[in-house]
Amino acid sequence: MLPLADTPTIQYVVEEAVASGVSHIAIVTSRTKRAIEDYFDEAPELRAALERKGDSKKLAMFERIEGLAQLSFIRQHEPRGLGHAVLLAKDIIGDEAFGVLLGDDLVDNPGDPCLKQLIRIHEQFGGCVLAVMRVPHDQVARYGVVAFDAANEPTPGVHRVRHLVEKPAPEDAPSDLAIIGRYVLTPAIFAAIERTPPGAGGEIQLTDALRLLGDHEPIYAYEFTGQRYDTGDPVGLLTTSLAFALQRPDLAPGIKAYLRTLRLDDEV
Ligand code: G1P
Repeated sequence: MLPLADTPTIQYVVEEAVASGVSHIAIVTSRTKRAIEDYFDEAPELRAALERKGDSKKLAMFERIEGLAQLSFIRQHEPRGLGHAVLLAKDIIGDEAFGVLLGDDLVDNPGDPCLKQLIRIHEQFGGCVLAVMRVPHDQVARYGVVAFDAANEPTPGVHRVRHLVEKPAPEDAPSDLAIIGRYVLTPAIFAAIERTPPGAGGEIQLTDALRLLGDHEPIYAYEFTGQRYDTGDPVGLLTTSLAFALQRPDLAPGIKAYLRTLRLDDEV
């Protein structure tokens, strides 16, 4: 729910899924994240009050939320890892391929949403598809990292994954190609997660389950196009907020005016 300017991050993530053709979204939350469910709920009293006041700006925000997709909410009672969170959606998803979007990763590409790019690759080649990007070598320990066979690429930008490691030390990383929070997964991932023991941080890691699944079906890493933002730390959150606000015609002039007053060479 952390806002980018005046819009919760999750709104952008849900909009990316919808723009990619997704019609049913399951949001895995926890007891500290009840505000997410409330945010997407109907609020007839608030709407009526805004209509009485003629507050068209706030009413437009409602329209942005309503009718986006069918939403289901699932509680993860303990923080047992990303793999475990995905497994909780097994009954809702059933026997079909599905997308996973991590709420603290944003990818900006309005013309071609990141998840849509992955769906295209899945439709072409089958298997699971992971969004990846090159990161500086000293940052690999923040990500799942893939090893691939450069001689065996189905098409430029798509790598056939040979091995995956969650948060490797730089000296152990098989490449600089890091997974960012967008995946298309086949339902076979659920059985793989069920066989996955706790890994990095004592949690059931999706990366580890993908490594098991890779023995049975192809996994592709796709170098997506778009600007990725990580809202998971304070600098990332502020930078992302600024970048998204600067794209908003109603907010950009005021922010630019403020930025022009900053003498950024001054010591803080
Ligand atoms: C998760 C995944 C990791 C991926 C990262 C992208 O880690 O486990 O493989 O590279 O998201 O943001 P987290 O950031 O939740 O620790």
